Amino acid sequence: TFTAITDALAGKSAVGDTVTVKGWIRTRRDSKAGISFLAIHDGSCFDPIQAVVPSDLNNYEEEVLKLTTGASVAVTGTLVESMGKGQSFEIQATQVEVLGFVEDPDTYPMAAKRHSIEFLREQAHLRNRTNIGGAVTRVRNCLAQAIHRFMHEKGYFWISTPLITGSDTEGAGEMFRVSTLDLENLPRDDKGAVDYTEDFFGKETFLTVSGQLNAETLACAMSKVYTFGPTFRAENSNTSRHLAEFWMMEPEIAFADLGDAATLAEEMLRYVFKAVLKERPDDMAFFQQRVDKTVIDRLQSVVDSDFVRMDYTDAIDILQKCGKKFENKVEWGVDLNSEHERYLAEEYVKGPLVLMNYPKDIKAFYMRLNDDGKTVAAMDVLAPGIGEIIGGAQREERLDVLDMRLDEMGLDKADYSWYRDLRRYGTVPHAGFGLGFERLVVYATGMQNVRDVIPFPRTPNNADY
Ligand code: 4AD
Ligand code: MG
Repeated sequence: TFTAITDALAGKSAVGDTVTVKGWIRTRRDSKAGISFLAIHDGSCFDPIQAVVPSDLNNYEEEVLKLTTGASVAVTGTLVESMGKGQSFEIQATQVEVLGFVEDPDTYPMAAKRHSIEFLREQAHLRNRTNIGGAVTRVRNCLAQAIHRFMHEKGYFWISTPLITGSDTEGAGEMFRVSTLDLENLPRDDKGAVDYTEDFFGKETFLTVSGQLNAETLACAMSKVYTFGPTFRAENSNTSRHLAEFWMMEPEIAFADLGDAATLAEEMLRYVFKAVLKERPDDMAFFQQRVDKTVIDRLQSVVDSDFVRMDYTDAIDILQKCGKKFENKVEWGVDLNSEHERYLAEEYVKGPLVLMNYPKDIKAFYMRLNDDGKTVAAMDVLAPGIGEIIGGAQREERLDVLDMRLDEMGLDKADYSWYRDLRRYGTVPHAGFGLGFERLVVYATGMQNVRDVIPFPRTPNNADY
């Protein structure tokens, strides 16, 4: 057995006890007095633990003095209070077992110095050994756990929705095809089109862009559900906010309207930021110091204040009158670009806001038509630094209106028969949203790019590792 460094540093193993910690060397320093100091990290917390290694250990010359950054060790010794500044406890080593040396230390990519974020991206298999990589992964985990905890406390069921699907929820056509057909020799029908009845599922299938439609069916039986899993978009956008594979958390609430969905989104963001500030103070202090000087204050102010809610129509007005030059034109009916979203969140509201009631023509078929006949009950949560982190809506629960919208958008009703059934058999008002999890992690850490907050980012021309 061995002790996680986080527990050793918290003094959970009482001072004076013999402990074993296992991890990787961050640095080795040798004093003239014939002692070596090893800083060892194991990912369990931000700080490494220091092991003080006396030169009378039998493998001191042979092995300890050959340890370099990245080598793996098991160190046994007495846990003592540290005299050095900045650390609470250290280990007075009585045994250093080398688990693995670093082959050719000069070429080890994660040398103990500051690396550029772009360099780290090219070392995805090793970057979690750095301060920043470890901190991101711990905060990411903390956020995910807090989301599950929050939803559980609110009485939601976590459900699983399929990753392989026949339907395009967002209707944006940005889907990866799933197929076992032989690309070199595709089966064709009479008209020369690819014959997908020959394919594995007997139809054309894709990786899902959203679990929403399936989640709606469960909400219309279980009342309060959420799905949280990977989603896929083949949009060819090389931006700091887009991934081809990202995680989305999607609650779906029966007997609820748009305002209820907005309230849930707001409460959830508050809850998870509070959790991260409380549970990961060491990592957050690091982000504040090295990545974004305002991050802690920013999260704290989300925790402390209500979100501004604003209609799309009013936002257009504000953007037109603000006197700022935007690259993309602003007029009623356009979809907002990230420059508009960021202006609203960063300069106008100076915090997150919920934008509601968008023109129907720029939104998906399933959003509930408002009484004005022009807008739908859609919402986006916009955050400083990142723009849209949540997209949601009240769903169209009236069959006749839904059918009209499907027709308007040129969608085939036959493809949505099960979805239409929900409106035929005991329909209820319902609403939900999708939270882009990587965008949330970006917001919570102050990191600049979604590629740096998921261990193995998938982007155009990048499916390595
Ligand atoms: O706004 P979107 O497209 O909404 C939906 O998919 C709805 N069906 C969700 C629902 O109501 N259940 O996506 C939701 C969120 C966005 O606000 C954004 O945060 C994130 O998913 N997102 C992406 N994150 C990373 N990379 C991408 N390519 C993303 N596309 C959307
Ligand atoms: Mg959206």
